[in-house]
Amino acid sequence: MILNTELEYKGDLFPANITDYQKDVDVLHFSTSNNVILQLTVLRDSVLRFRYTTVGKFNNDFSYAIDEDASRGYNHLEITDDEKKYIITTSKLICHIHKTDLRKSIYDAKNNTLICEDELGFHWEESYELGGDIVKMSKAAQNGESYYGLGDKPQHLNLKGKRFENWATDSYAFGKNTDPIYKAIPFYTGLHNGKSYGIFFDNTFKTFFDFCQERRNVTSFWAQGGEMNYYFIYGPKMQDVVTNYTDLTGTPELPPLWALGYHQCKWSYYPESNVKEITNKFRALKIPCDAIYLDIDYMEGFRCFTWSKDHFPDPKRMVKELTDDGFKTVVIIDPGIKIDNAYSVFKEALDKDYFCKRADGPYMKGKVWPGECYFPDFTRPEVREWWAGLFKELIEDIGVKGVWNDMNEPAVMDVPGKTFPADVRHDYDGNPCSHQKAHNIYGMQMARATYHGLKRFNYPKRPFVITRSAYSGTQRYTSTWMGDNVASWEHLQIANIQAQRLALSGFSFAGSDIGGFAEQPNGELYARWIQLGAFHPFCRTHSSGDHGDQEPWAFDEEITDVVRKFIEIRYELLPYLYTSFYQYSHNNVPMLKSLVLFDQEDSQTHYRTDEFICGDQLLICPINEPNSKGRRMYIPRGEWYNFWTKELISGGKETWVDADLDSMPIFVKAGAIIPKYPIQQYVGEKDIEELTLDAYYKNGKEDSELYEDANDGYDYTKGRYSLKKFNLAGNGNKLIIRIHKRGEYETSYKTFKINLFGLPFKVKSIKVDNEYVDLKDVKFNGDNSLIVPKEFTNLQIKG
Ligand code: GLC
Repeated sequence: MILNTELEYKGDLFPANITDYQKDVDVLHFSTSNNVILQLTVLRDSVLRFRYTTVGKFNNDFSYAIDEDASRGYNHLEITDDEKKYIITTSKLICHIHKTDLRKSIYDAKNNTLICEDELGFHWEESYELGGDIVKMSKAAQNGESYYGLGDKPQHLNLKGKRFENWATDSYAFGKNTDPIYKAIPFYTGLHNGKSYGIFFDNTFKTFFDFCQERRNVTSFWAQGGEMNYYFIYGPKMQDVVTNYTDLTGTPELPPLWALGYHQCKWSYYPESNVKEITNKFRALKIPCDAIYLDIDYMEGFRCFTWSKDHFPDPKRMVKELTDDGFKTVVIIDPGIKIDNAYSVFKEALDKDYFCKRADGPYMKGKVWPGECYFPDFTRPEVREWWAGLFKELIEDIGVKGVWNDMNEPAVMDVPGKTFPADVRHDYDGNPCSHQKAHNIYGMQMARATYHGLKRFNYPKRPFVITRSAYSGTQRYTSTWMGDNVASWEHLQIANIQAQRLALSGFSFAGSDIGGFAEQPNGELYARWIQLGAFHPFCRTHSSGDHGDQEPWAFDEEITDVVRKFIEIRYELLPYLYTSFYQYSHNNVPMLKSLVLFDQEDSQTHYRTDEFICGDQLLICPINEPNSKGRRMYIPRGEWYNFWTKELISGGKETWVDADLDSMPIFVKAGAIIPKYPIQQYVGEKDIEELTLDAYYKNGKEDSELYEDANDGYDYTKGRYSLKKFNLAGNGNKLIIRIHKRGEYETSYKTFKINLFGLPFKVKSIKVDNEYVDLKDVKFNGDNSLIVPKEFTNLQIKG
């Protein structure tokens, strides 16, 4: 099979000259003399959609990725033409479409500089083997251009010089060069000359991306079928590209706060006594933990929606006891349904004809954990509805709080390709197709159905779902993890890259199997990994269990102490993490920011991989090597405080940072106000009676946010939330903190404890909302802290 874009390949076909142009409000049609039509939709001033057909007619326009609430609307649209081209102008972009061959060039409307131009542009190859066309697009790479994105690829953060494939694949013990792995997220951003744009190729077939690997100055992408259908998103700030892509494909609702706590998992904790032993130990050792997972062995012969009578004789009682102790129970549910006429889930799906079938009629049969299985066609709305209904007992009656969807690439054992054959049929929501088209969204549709089930039966509490496979848009329904990684130092690095890459691909709620799934970490590796995982949106230890234990106490006491210390830091930072989730969910802002996303103007950041920003104001850099007493790292431009020593450092340079095993490089942006909870063993253990605000002095201004609500439920959607905007301003002998509050939620605490760091002057007076505070009430020699009522709007500290 030939799958390249080389010019000389004689099978390639190209659009001919434009013979007709039609405009329907914001949708433009350019037709060529050889039956190609380019449909250009102006979605926003900075977002254009390009869609091509080679047969003079478009198929039904349907996408699982695009969020129905995606923003639309532009300020300006003008279309003109000259002898050679059509010119489409919005307030942000100018797009030229050449009349002879449909090739496009896109410019920044402000200064007419080139952002992205077609090389060969759209072309295609008729595929006799697969049917339909192999649709291709090639773009000229600009000088010094870098590329980022593509979901979960384990490679270097900057994708330049490499070629990738998107085909969701079960990838046990994958390596840095394994491609593809579990997810298919065909979105990337390019960056050159200080400008960033994004391309989202919304095509669910197997897709390929070549970033200057085959030809040094060309970037191309193509698919084994379907339409050339892509969105062009302009920044010029990369953060705007990512937020616009995220707006297009959606964000999740807020999770219950406990889902941001620490989770413990293993394949498998059973029987019940083993589960209890683990949860009791967390409480005995005072290591915070909110969720305990049950892997496949909780079931009866791996039949989904059943419980092993021997190992879990009374799940309802057990789940209740765990709940009383602050543990939320999360259970695994796979897509393979065991072929067994005595098994009601199987029988019902068979009777209702819900299973996937091969092209000529027989069921799609494949082996997974339970042995031979059939698989629901989650691309059919009534199947999703049925599936959602199956969760009634687990969630409503037994009290399970979260569901873990695994093996949903879909994975099939002992067959070539490790998945369904290409001919398997799918409904695709009324657009019937083969597995070639549905493969990459199968896991997404399963997770979607699961999410709806949990939402229904857990109501009025919020659902929690985690999936292994995903396509663009899956983040609307579920969190994710990176699949079966390995307990190695290299994988610690990979986990860091993957979490950053997923965040800049619209999928922030992600984390790795801390410590590694395959093989076993030593204590040092586990401790270093917890340090990283504590700053990932999803924080869970998971392991195959084949090679020994992987709980925080499985190594030695020193390690247990380090692990506890970092999980405690995460629990203190919960209001900060939750605020960051709010900014993701509400404003489409990624929760983790690679340095290039944080400061693209600084070219030093373009190839950095280890350092990242968690939220907006914490700079994190894991220790990636054994026996380290610290490391060199890049501090981005600006002023930063060492989290541990409170020493102030100017960025824009590499520096050595000390980090013994019980520490790691963490810096706080000068001017930040970081909200903190007291340490709790689980979310809700304590009533928060006072909220701590760590305020880091800055000579200048800095804004911070704090979002709070009931931490679960949906009252926040009716205005019962509290959003505080802090504005800190320092000028050498004065520090002012102002707060603006929005929302109707009344927090349980009455006061803030403000810790002031880095004050360059000796305090002579403190005024809270125009009233002077008696300096006796303020401890300035010890921890520089003062207590103020939470209603304050203006705090002035003078030297
Ligand atoms: C897969 C999952 C892993 C799980 C195992 C057993 O390998 O990726 O997380 O523990 O299956 O269910």
